[in-house]
Amino acid sequence: MSNLVLTGFMGTGKTTIGRQVSRRLNMKFVDTDQEVEHVTGLTVREIFDKFGEIRFRSEEKAAVVRVCRNDEQVIATGGGVVLNPENIKELEKNGIIICLSASPEVIHQRTKNKKNRPILNTDDPLQTIRDRLAERKPLYEAAGVMVDTDNRSIEEVVTEVIRIYRECSARK
Ligand code: S3P
Repeated sequence: MSNLVLTGFMGTGKTTIGRQVSRRLNMKFVDTDQEVEHVTGLTVREIFDKFGEIRFRSEEKAAVVRVCRNDEQVIATGGGVVLNPENIKELEKNGIIICLSASPEVIHQRTKNKKNRPILNTDDPLQTIRDRLAERKPLYEAAGVMVDTDNRSIEEVVTEVIRIYRECSARK
């Protein structure tokens, strides 16, 4: 069975949805951010603070290569994984990519009380979300099937993700 890969901006629910989908499909759940943290022994935030974004992206790329060695997993990716086309090539080799989306306002609501996202650690996080989302939207759309998460329950999103995964698996 192919991997089920979740992409999407921060705060679109990749981890929450991914965990539930993995339970329902009885597949292993992996998260590229957690993989980076495990291998480096540092949090994502510490990597950004000590070494900068470029270093994080290189650790992230290596994590993608490692997790793609296995099948039958639900893979939640970091929001910036689409910035490197090589990551997408790797993820789609043995995976079906589904991209979760949400509006900047909803993303802001979901992320504003958490301090673990260095990219949003700015004076105006909502504007940062708008800007980064505008830059990345075409990349998300090109990489996978889009699923909107605004005003929908976790259960609804989980069900739709599973439906798309099954449909795409049957065609692959
Ligand atoms: C990032 C998203 C984060 C994490 C890092 C950078 C981004 O993952 O990889 O902070 O550039 O969008 P989540 O989308 O899981 O928060």
